[in-house]
Amino acid sequence: MKQACGKGLCLKVKTVLVILNMSLLLEISEKMLERLNFGLLKPKKETDWDNVLPLSALEEISKEEAVQTVAKPLFPFESFTLRDYVDHSETLTKLVHLGVDLSKVEKLRNAGQLLVRLDFENDIKKILLFLKDVGVEDNQLGPFLTKNPYIFTEDTEALETRVAYLKSKKFDKELIARMVSRAPFLLMFSVERLDNRLGFFQKELGLSVQKTRDLVSRLPRLLTGSLEPVKENLAVCRIELGFRPNEIQHIAFKIPKILTANKKKLTETFDYVHNVMGIPHHILTNFPQVFNSSLLKVKERHMFLTFLGRAQYDPRQPSYISLDKLVSVPNEVFCTEIAKASVQDFMKFLKTL
Ligand SMILES: *[C@@H]1O[C@H](CO)[C@@H](O)[C@H](O)[C@H]1NC(C)=O
Repeated sequence: MKQACGKGLCLKVKTVLVILNMSLLLEISEKMLERLNFGLLKPKKETDWDNVLPLSALEEISKEEAVQTVAKPLFPFESFTLRDYVDHSETLTKLVHLGVDLSKVEKLRNAGQLLVRLDFENDIKKILLFLKDVGVEDNQLGPFLTKNPYIFTEDTEALETRVAYLKSKKFDKELIARMVSRAPFLLMFSVERLDNRLGFFQKELGLSVQKTRDLVSRLPRLLTGSLEPVKENLAVCRIELGFRPNEIQHIAFKIPKILTANKKKLTETFDYVHNVMGIPHHILTNFPQVFNSSLLKVKERHMFLTFLGRAQYDPRQPSYISLDKLVSVPNEVFCTEIAKASVQDFMKFLKTL
C-alpha cells in the first residue's frame, strides 16, 4: 500500500517514532533496573579489609567522638613517630589542622608510612574534595581520615564508581553521605562486594530491595564489617533461640544491631526474657526492643514489677505492660506510669537485691 505522506514528513514521523521508542526503552530498562535485586554482580578477588584492619577501624564514628576528636588539643601525641615529621611536613600539618589524630593513625598498619609519603596537592586534595562532594561534613573529615587514612591510596574514579553504584540502587545523596561518614571504609569496597553484601542481607532475611536499603543505611557497618558474626547470630536466632525465618526478618529489621550483637549477650537476654519472664516468641518478635537494652535494666524492672505484682506481659490482660515500653522509657516514667510507684521506692528496692 502506498504511504500517505511525503518524503520529508515520513522522515519526521520516523524520527519521532525512533525517539519515542528509545525513550520507552530507556524508561523500561530503568524500571527493570529499579526492580533488579542486589547481589547479581560476580565477586572479584580483592583486598579483604576485614583482615587487614584492626576491628576498631571498622567501627562507626559516633557524634560525640566526632566532636571530641575535633575539640581535642593537637598535642601531645602518645607516640613520637609521626610527630617528628609534623614540623617538616606540610601534609601532616594540614591533616592535623583538619582534625586527624596522628597518634591514632600511626597505630594502624602501614598508615604512618603512607601519610609521610603523601603530597598534599597531588594525593590529598582530590580525596578531600571527593569526600566533601559526597557530603561528609567538615567536622567529620578529621575523624573519618583518622579511621581510614587508606582512602588516600584509592583512585578517585573507583570511588566515584562506588558512589554511582549506590545511587543506581536508589540510595539518595543524603543517605550516602550519612553512611560514608558513619562507616569510613564503605567506599573502599568494590561495587561487586557492595552488591554482594546487599544481596546477602536481602536473601538471608527475605527483605524487599527497599527494606534492604533501609536496613543497611541504618547500620552501614553491615556493609563494611565481617559477615561471620552476622551469619553466626542468624544461626543462633534460628537454632538456639528457635525463631522462625519471618520472625528473624522482623526482629532484624527493627533492631539491626541484633545482627552484630555479642552472641553471649544475645542468648543471655533471650534466656532471661523467654525463660524467666515467660515471654513467648511471637511477643518478642513484636517487641524486640529488649534486644537493644541492657539486660540489667530489664532484670531490675522485671523484678520490681514482680515484687509489686504487676509483671503482666500478656497483651490479652487488662494490666498488660508492653515490652517495648518496659525497656525504653526512663526511670521516672517507668516508675510512675508502669510500676505506679515512686522513684524512691524503686531505688530502695534495688538496694535490697
Ligand atoms: C537502641 O537504643 C538506643 C539507646 O539506648 C537508641 O538510641 C536507639 O534508637 C535504639 N535503637 C533502635 C533500633 O531502636
